[in-house]
Amino acid sequence: MTVSVIVGSQWGDEGKGKITDILAEKVDLVVRYQGGNNAGHTVVVGEKTFKLHFIPPGVLYDTCMCVIGNGVVLDPEVFFGEIETLKKQGIAVNPSKLKVSSIAHVILPFHKMLDNQQESKRHEEKIGTTGKGIGPTYTDKIARAGIRVQDLFSKDKIRKRLEKRHWELVFPGQDLRYEEVVESYYELGQRLKPFVVDSSLFINQAIDEGKNIIMEGAQGTMLDVDHGTYPFVTSSNPVSGGACVGAGVGPNKIDKILGVTKAYVTRVGEGPFPTELLDETGEFLRERGGEFGTTTGRPRRCGWLDLVALKYAVRVNGLTSICFTKLDVLDGIKSLKVCTHYETPEGVLNEFPLDLDVFSKAKPVYTDLPGWEEDISQMTSYDELPENAKKYIQFVSKAVGVQIKMVSVGTRRRQTIHLLTI
Ligand code: GDP
Ligand code: IMO
Ligand code: MG
Repeated sequence: MTVSVIVGSQWGDEGKGKITDILAEKVDLVVRYQGGNNAGHTVVVGEKTFKLHFIPPGVLYDTCMCVIGNGVVLDPEVFFGEIETLKKQGIAVNPSKLKVSSIAHVILPFHKMLDNQQESKRHEEKIGTTGKGIGPTYTDKIARAGIRVQDLFSKDKIRKRLEKRHWELVFPGQDLRYEEVVESYYELGQRLKPFVVDSSLFINQAIDEGKNIIMEGAQGTMLDVDHGTYPFVTSSNPVSGGACVGAGVGPNKIDKILGVTKAYVTRVGEGPFPTELLDETGEFLRERGGEFGTTTGRPRRCGWLDLVALKYAVRVNGLTSICFTKLDVLDGIKSLKVCTHYETPEGVLNEFPLDLDVFSKAKPVYTDLPGWEEDISQMTSYDELPENAKKYIQFVSKAVGVQIKMVSVGTRRRQTIHLLTI
């Protein structure tokens, strides 16, 4: 039995969905431990494309159960919409297959309104949030003013929590229709009830029974509210430590921590990004890589691989291996650059600076590596890869001191190379 954590090692959209899907074939349980429907995980299976926001990719297998952990913030309407969409795509999701934590916090319409209001007031310090109410819901959680899934089972509790939160002070003069919210969220609570469990107990029982388990993070290390590029971050802890908190599992139960790493870097929303390419190479990566947000459709900012940030991700997550994705997107680029250091007003740095002012001014110092001409998207073994692709993989692995265990060369399941040789 193995308990693995899958974590994004950059700014999200590294291909966690695809990697979790591949590994879920041999897994009994996939747990999502934080975030909400700010996440968008695309999984391509045959002719079908699944866009998952709450429900972990394990749902696509009959043999795998899924849990939405206590660390997630849940929008019940979106959750049921996702189940409906999956049903139309031939995937039945029912309470025997999917469990939801009784103590996950609930995203309310007011959280979404507040998310958008706050963004519109931020002017030049916009974060570029997804507008799904994530930040305000986590804010209420920490302020001890939130509503949890189990509260939805009582109209009285919903009403009291709404009244105590004093939303009328946040949106003065607006008719907030509390009673309509009470009724509709109670209704959603009744629909949720069959899915709801003590998720920590459920997961730990599975561990005790010797099941294979993946705990899947959303977003990525550099969007972590503690370890990321604050304030240009999300409001939760995507890092591997977040899995313990967000699933109610002790750190001693975790065996492996896999970092999903794109062969280049993308970022959606605002915030510093030293290796960003604002030229035709950036445009090439965006077009070739299909770098448009799964959740909001926004074009993703693209840039060269940043090994300073990756080394930091290795450290703060304790990565035991890396899954390297989208290597095929680099096909045909003559010369590749990887950032090994930053030049900053504080001097040359090879460790990630925690001061955002320093990071904002960081100029990447690059090593040039030769590219390859071949189309690698149909290659199925490491040996088949062009020499320069192997060199690229080895350079990255050596620089960050972690084995690259998988290389993904396309969206499909079969477009995945398992590395045994390095
Ligand atoms: P996630 O949020 O980390 O799950 O990543 P997303 O699903 O938001 O973004 C990754 C995108 O890249 C998706 O559209 C995937 O289908 C696609 N993708 C994943 N792995 C590969 C790969 O190796 N090559 C290519 N070309 N596309 C990939
Ligand atoms: P997955 O799981 C990429 C970004 C937003 C914004 C910041 C804060 O698909 O990798 P939020 O709505 O969370 O308050 O927005 O975080 N962001 C993501 N970027 N992938 C994601 O998820 C993201 N989830 C949030 O663009 O910059
Ligand atoms: Mg995504």
